[in-house]
Amino acid sequence: MLTGYKSLKYNYSMTHFSPILDEYLEELLLWNKSFNLIGKSTEKEIWKTHIENSLEILSFLENEDCPNVVDIGSGAGLPSIPLSIFLPKKIFYLTEVNSKKLAFLTFVIKKLNLNNTIVVNINEGFYLEDECIVVSRAFSDIKTIINWEKKHLKSVFKNYLLKGREEKIKEEIKEAKIEKYEIINLNRGRLVIF
Ligand SMILES: C[S@@+](CC[C@H](N)C(=O)[O-])C[C@H]1O[C@@H](n2cnc3c(N)ncnc32)[C@H](O)[C@@H]1O
Repeated sequence: MLTGYKSLKYNYSMTHFSPILDEYLEELLLWNKSFNLIGKSTEKEIWKTHIENSLEILSFLENEDCPNVVDIGSGAGLPSIPLSIFLPKKIFYLTEVNSKKLAFLTFVIKKLNLNNTIVVNINEGFYLEDECIVVSRAFSDIKTIINWEKKHLKSVFKNYLLKGREEKIKEEIKEAKIEKYEIINLNRGRLVIF
């Protein structure tokens, strides 16, 4: 039985939401047996590695007025699915190119009744006219993310990127010529905001 939500430090009423997260994790682990959605070695620590890490953006997003959130390279729905459960008023666009991941995302958002999420198959073309916040975890370097945004998004309000080593982040920031940014240490990795 998954009891990871008990370790969540956020001050939310978990009574209503935790069964949805548990259901998500159950489906993720089940599909991972044949679809390789997340690294097998991360399954044991799935809550710490994937859910807690995704939810570290939560307190930032809830203070933003912009309602649209685009997740670049959502994979199995990280960070967007955990975030969308706690931010029902925001609309999450889960973008992917991989057919297995797209199949899982489409299945799981329906199963979980996550009406504030939209799965986007990038192979079919995508351009968002509305202003949006970008979130992304382990997708690519910052320059590639910015190029992706130029192609698919009209107006980016702010970026919240979940990343790893500070040294590497600073290299990427320099390469992408970003002048104003913030790097925040998280329990796992770092959050880059610009
Ligand atoms: C390393 S995974 C990270 C997945 C997830 N964000 C996570 O943290 O577990 C990167 C994902 O980006 C997807 N991807 C690759 N090119 C993409 C593109 N042009 N647009 C959207 N997603 C893409 C891949 O299929 C893959 O699932």
